[in-house]
Amino acid sequence: MCGIVGYIGPKNSVDIIVSGLHRLEYRGYDSAGIALCQGRDEKLLVIKTPGKISDLETAIRAAFAGKEARNYTLGIGHTRWATHGAPTRENAHPHVSRNGQFAIVHNGIIENYAELKARLIKKGFVFASETDSEVIAHLIEECYVGDLRGAVAAAIEKLEGAYGIAVISSKHPDTLVAVRKGSPIVVGICDGETIVASDVSAIVNYTKRVIFLNDGDILTATADSVEIASIKNVPVTREMTHIDWDIRDIEKGGYAHFMLKEIHEQPATIANALRGRLIESEGTAKLSGMLMGPSDMARIDRVSIAACGTSYHAGMVGKYLFEDFASIPSEVQQAAEFRDRNPIIQRDTCLIAISQSGETADTLAAVREGHQKGAVVMGICNVVGSTIAREAGRGVYLHAGPEIGVASTKAFTSQVTVLTMMAIALARTRRLSVNAGREMIQQLAKLPGIAEQVIAQESVIIKIAEKYADMRDCFYIGRGYMYPAALEGALKLKEISYIHAEGYHASELKHGPIALLEKTVPVIALVPNVPGKIKTMGNMQECKARHSPVIAIATEGDRDIESLSEDIIRIPPCPEFLAPIPAVIAEQLLAYHIARLRGCSIDQPRNLAKSVTVE
Ligand code: M6R
Repeated sequence: MCGIVGYIGPKNSVDIIVSGLHRLEYRGYDSAGIALCQGRDEKLLVIKTPGKISDLETAIRAAFAGKEARNYTLGIGHTRWATHGAPTRENAHPHVSRNGQFAIVHNGIIENYAELKARLIKKGFVFASETDSEVIAHLIEECYVGDLRGAVAAAIEKLEGAYGIAVISSKHPDTLVAVRKGSPIVVGICDGETIVASDVSAIVNYTKRVIFLNDGDILTATADSVEIASIKNVPVTREMTHIDWDIRDIEKGGYAHFMLKEIHEQPATIANALRGRLIESEGTAKLSGMLMGPSDMARIDRVSIAACGTSYHAGMVGKYLFEDFASIPSEVQQAAEFRDRNPIIQRDTCLIAISQSGETADTLAAVREGHQKGAVVMGICNVVGSTIAREAGRGVYLHAGPEIGVASTKAFTSQVTVLTMMAIALARTRRLSVNAGREMIQQLAKLPGIAEQVIAQESVIIKIAEKYADMRDCFYIGRGYMYPAALEGALKLKEISYIHAEGYHASELKHGPIALLEKTVPVIALVPNVPGKIKTMGNMQECKARHSPVIAIATEGDRDIESLSEDIIRIPPCPEFLAPIPAVIAEQLLAYHIARLRGCSIDQPRNLAKSVTVE
């Protein structure tokens, strides 16, 4: 979704902002812009354009052509993912106030913008865009009485909704102001310069020392100082976070796409999720971020999981794990539904919010609702310092490194790995014996090797992708632990290849969708050698009888499925509870290569954003 970068310091802010915006491209956007301070009390220079950052760079070169090179030491930039108004130049950010001396960039949604806009128009303010964001620039000008921070504070008091905002004014060429409520803002602490952004990726090239603003914080930065205070101007202290990854982690490293790089990283990212957490001698896992000893764990009598998209599919696997091993009644729900349907939370219900980005608006809302209802709230997040990680207050990080491809891959396998460790830890406070726990831990430790073996099948998967790249529709089927894997396979394929794909429980196909089967509609059957295989084989028969080609994802050496399958992708033998991981890695590779053969924009599929910060 939208991205913010702001800079104040001795360097040319144009270069730093544009390179930061490039780092945020993965989030998804459809227009971009930059505002620069040209000197005290002068009009701010605003350059913006629909399309890509490369289009913005062309516009910047055109704007500067023939002009004397100068150092713009204060500026803000933005990538916009359209909500209110089409992706046009006018609707792109930054937006400037009537006098051209205040500029803002905004992530989030201002819910009461229509009434604010009507009032401002009556007072003579002229609007150049259809956005909800432009009101902020005009409000700041209206509230300004010599103090930029004060004007921002007064303006945001009038706003309803969610925002991360960065503000500059030519009346204060040495000041950059930023504020957050519901949409992240992070400040990079460097020597003699300050960078703000909506995402650490835009900052990590300059510094690894960052501060995440909390909701209600207003940052006032100069090149040499960073002050954070509440809206009422009461100073607050926020902890410094050290970022433990570097710029190479957000570069492609020789791969054609981030998605492919991230698929290949999985043996390492799963190993990172496991590192230091398996206690084989005790047959358990130690997840210190859960902030729970065995007696606290033993008290949990219900698990409620809330997540969206791929994280929701990981949550489904989690539900099976908690029920199978810890015998804890568990439910999983799409995060938006969690809040919309007023769920029952009891004192010892543990709400687990799963989110790669840690910023998904619906999942964040579920976390807040969980706290409100008195649940023990836990986050499973990848992005360190993200809002869900912080607001959950306890939980487990994935340590998968930045996931840049919009299609989530390595996050899923790490989420399932973490959920498995959580299930073992909870199960050990119940009926799981030390020996049985030890066996599970030993199996878990083999996961990186299993992931590697699936990736080694890539050339086989490419051949299958070539055969089916032109299909228009397809189905994924599975049962038990393979059911969430079927849903995830279909999501992966549809989001990056634009092929219509549906995931179903293998048995559910005959309750309706089977009507669509014919020889042009392949079925991908998840049928490893685990309980339920024989029944799924029956469902494969049903597909075959309707002339649908069946592609099986099956265990190495299993010959039972051969007569039912047109093509087979082999995964290594493993226990049922771990099988979603190799099966989903095979599906990721299949989806990737089909999308590549169709010439799709794999890392930034149309209409999608990496981090969905609107409800
Ligand atoms: O960052 P989150 O895990 O909370 O994101 C949830 C979904 O938006 C995300 O998984 C989405 O479905 C991906 N595009 C799937 O590949």
